[in-house]
Amino acid sequence: PELFLPERPNSKGFDLTDVPTLDAIDAARAPFRTTQIQAAPLLAKEAKPKPFQFVTNPYSTIDSAGSVAEASAADVETALSNAAPWDAQPSLRSQALNQAADLYEANFGKLFALLAREAGKTPMDTVAELREAVDFLRYYAARIPEAAPVGTFTCISPWNFPLAIFTGQIAAALAAGNAVLAKPADQTPLIAFEAVTLLHEAGVPRTALQLLPGDGTTVGAALTSDPRVNGVAFTGSTATAQRIRRAMAANLAPGAPLIAETGGLNAMIVDSTALPEQAVTAIIESAFQSAGQRCSALRCLYVQEDIAEGLLEMLQGAMKELCLGDPWAFATDSGPVIDTAAQATIADHIAKAKSDGRLLFQLPIPQEGTFVAPTLIKVAGIGDLEREIFGPVLHVATFKSDELDAVIDAINATGYGLTFGLQTRIDDRVQHVSERIHAGNIYINRNQIGAIVGSQPFGGEGLSGTGPKAGGPNYLRRFCTEEIPTQYR
Ligand code: NAD
Ligand code: ALA
Repeated sequence: PELFLPERPNSKGFDLTDVPTLDAIDAARAPFRTTQIQAAPLLAKEAKPKPFQFVTNPYSTIDSAGSVAEASAADVETALSNAAPWDAQPSLRSQALNQAADLYEANFGKLFALLAREAGKTPMDTVAELREAVDFLRYYAARIPEAAPVGTFTCISPWNFPLAIFTGQIAAALAAGNAVLAKPADQTPLIAFEAVTLLHEAGVPRTALQLLPGDGTTVGAALTSDPRVNGVAFTGSTATAQRIRRAMAANLAPGAPLIAETGGLNAMIVDSTALPEQAVTAIIESAFQSAGQRCSALRCLYVQEDIAEGLLEMLQGAMKELCLGDPWAFATDSGPVIDTAAQATIADHIAKAKSDGRLLFQLPIPQEGTFVAPTLIKVAGIGDLEREIFGPVLHVATFKSDELDAVIDAINATGYGLTFGLQTRIDDRVQHVSERIHAGNIYINRNQIGAIVGSQPFGGEGLSGTGPKAGGPNYLRRFCTEEIPTQYR
């Protein structure tokens, strides 16, 4: 009953197979094809930010969606000293967050254009991202608990869901009545600026929500090591989460909560009973949609030896059908990776595999944009992956019929536990593997990306996160403290 089921009031989204819908999207986003946005800190009092710098477009060296003036040390101080919990009645907070959801939907054309131009998001990714952002707002607005806010929450988000995750963290912290200091990813400040502008327009006070664009090591570090901060919500890499935990331990109150959603080394097991067409579709979506830049993305595929040759042949055939290119175009399946630094890191990994003779297959890529070729690399097992490779690179291993438990042990031994996929037609095996595998989200006979708010609460365990799951019934509680009954105050 706590989830959206059975009424499922998720955002309707857009049907990208419907031509009139495509025309409507085109008409709505066209005015923002060349718009220049100037993003700056949005504070409770006047900001004194650093000079403006252009924001890169991962698909084009000649287009930029705008520029950003990052928060200065003085701005961080202004934000910290003026932050005030949102003391409006829960019903008014709920009303404002629902109003923000409506504004996101009303402004979808601008957000659509920005997601392509600043983050390289394809239309398919954008539709899912917009829906998720709107769903987070409405889901948390509908579930404000009877409890007190923690105080001031710093919310730090990654570039790969610059609207959905940015909004989800903020919406939860605000729903619970906290003051929020929002630090978006360095690569995607423009979308964050638009989102906070809409949240303010919806009625969220400027003392309750302040935006501080800037670098992680300066602005992010300052906002996670000041004792005036009472809690941190973080989504990003495991290494950064560990850094933040150390900074909090040294500077914040001992009980200050850290909600961290981090990386994954996600696996899928395909056994010899799996439906090949279904498995290949699921693999393609899980490994290559969003250019593999999802924490949930498939990194290591285990195929049972008996069917490996046929399945890998089908997989390569399906990879050849992928349309790589301009994220603005409706036909594009996969866009560029976020920037040249990410491109270089992934390219190094592929080059090493190539020199070790482990490259199985690679697609050609477009000339323009920071693309990485969707690639298959042979590995003995998931233990060969030293870290999360955040791009369209799929590692492939095979296993014998009596090695299933050894494969599960190897996956669990990575210490990560975010998503996991299983393709099989054996019911007992579904039961057995699901019970043994350590993963936050387990997907059977489908892809392993794109969790839906309210029906598939999302989050990992171990190195993949602290919980609670985003878009689930327990998330808001972590942004609250126990309400002290009046007679004991
Ligand atoms: P990142 O860790 O480099 O950066 C994330 C955020 O942390 C950015 O806003 C950055 O500026 C900030 N930051 C960096 N150093 C900081 C510091 N010392 N103190 C405070 N803040 C700091 O991650 P990224 O490259 O932006 O995102 C990709 C990563 O995010 C991947 O590992 C991916 O798996 C993970 N991710 C996880 C989830 C999830 O729900 N589990 C969702 C999306 C992305
Ligand atoms: N929630 C995102 C997904 O499930 C990360 O792909």
